[in-house]
Amino acid sequence: FWRRDRPPLATPSFQGVGESQKVSPQPPFLQIYRYQTHDYAFSSNEGLLRALGGEDLVLMLNRSIEEALQRAGFSQKFIDEVVCPAMRVNYGQGGFRPPALPGAVSLAGVESGLWSVKGGNKLVCTGLLYAAKAQVIPGTVVSIEPKIRPRRSGELGGGLYHVTYRTAQGLTGDTYDLVVIAAPLGGPLANISFLNFHPPIPSFPNPYHQTVATFVHGRLNSSFFGYREPSSFRLGVIFTTDNPNLFINSLAMVSPVEKKDDDEDDDEKTTPLAVWKVFSREELTKEELDLLFVSYDSVKFKKWLAYPRYDPPERCPPVLLHHQLYYLNGLERAASAAELSAVAAKNVALLAFHRWHGNHGAIDQQDLEEKLKTEL
Ligand SMILES: *[C@@H]1O[C@H](CO)[C@@H](O)[C@H](O)[C@H]1NC(C)=O
Ligand SMILES: *[C@@H]1O[C@H](CO)[C@@H](O)[C@H](O)[C@H]1NC(C)=O
Ligand SMILES: *[C@@H]1O[C@H](CO)[C@@H](O)[C@H](O)[C@H]1NC(C)=O
Repeated sequence: FWRRDRPPLATPSFQGVGESQKVSPQPPFLQIYRYQTHDYAFSSNEGLLRALGGEDLVLMLNRSIEEALQRAGFSQKFIDEVVCPAMRVNYGQGGFRPPALPGAVSLAGVESGLWSVKGGNKLVCTGLLYAAKAQVIPGTVVSIEPKIRPRRSGELGGGLYHVTYRTAQGLTGDTYDLVVIAAPLGGPLANISFLNFHPPIPSFPNPYHQTVATFVHGRLNSSFFGYREPSSFRLGVIFTTDNPNLFINSLAMVSPVEKKDDDEDDDEKTTPLAVWKVFSREELTKEELDLLFVSYDSVKFKKWLAYPRYDPPERCPPVLLHHQLYYLNGLERAASAAELSAVAAKNVALLAFHRWHGNHGAIDQQDLEEKLKTEL
């Protein structure tokens, strides 16, 4: 459900004040869609960022959002009271001086125009698998090991990978020409052993941040939020600034994807009785729920490692781990969003295709703007 809050990547640019910048017709990040439409791929995450926004965008990995905004002339008050609350909603973290790129993505998420999918955003994944006619093996990958393919005449003796996975039937596996890892390595989320790689696949520090999402059907305690008169309470979203005493990061009314005109409930419109989504770092205690709500009849929570824990300077892990072994999630260290994952996935699909077919002219090209002008 956090993906509901994910912004489309119309990343605001912070380089405007005092730094020279080429005038580009649209936000730099949107260029990726043109490059990918023309089948260009990048063999590293930094290379992808550099092609989009030059060195300034790569530097955003190393700069905190605070520093980037200060350089751009924003006041500390704006940073503390607008940017930090947005970071706390979108990435559950505000106090760690998150790097500029996730900060920018958070800010994009504060604007309107976000989309939800009726039935749940998870339908995007099942829909894509269906459309791709993919054969899905439900299981957990345990290890990957390179194997040498027996040489046949006229064919290069390339590599293969043996992938071992645990399914309901037990430990099993198969060999593949090409492997794409689309899960965050280096933590409990994807604990894959790389066996017999020479040189070994390095491990990437990849700390993840725990967020607890609690859904409560109830009536908010307006006096807890400083409203003595419940009828004057009309807030649908509550953001918070950084404060170690706060036990919540944000609180927002969950609205249905579809508005049903014939199902209007006047009571719901005039009182804070609704389904509320509360983000916090820890599970909410009964005492905390009793402070937030005057009454409630249903509480559901999900505790999860929702996104990277950011701490600049950040470095993106490689896209290419071995000849035909690719890794998508490195780009999450730049910023985590469903749309960025889709960008990373398309990049790897293009990269793997071009490398397989030896189309080197479509990989890591400089001056793509100029190239596209002459191609068009
Ligand atoms: C960002 O910081 C890392 C680690 O300190 C450093 O290796 C890298 O060169 C820096 N990148 C830039 C673009 O300054
Ligand atoms: C990863 O798996 C190994 C066994 O293959 C286990 O010893 C280790 O504790 C696991 N690590 C995590 C973070 O789950
Ligand atoms: C509501 O908030 C007020 C102010 O924090 C608190 O004293 C009270 O216990 C809370 N709960 C209810 C049910 O009023």
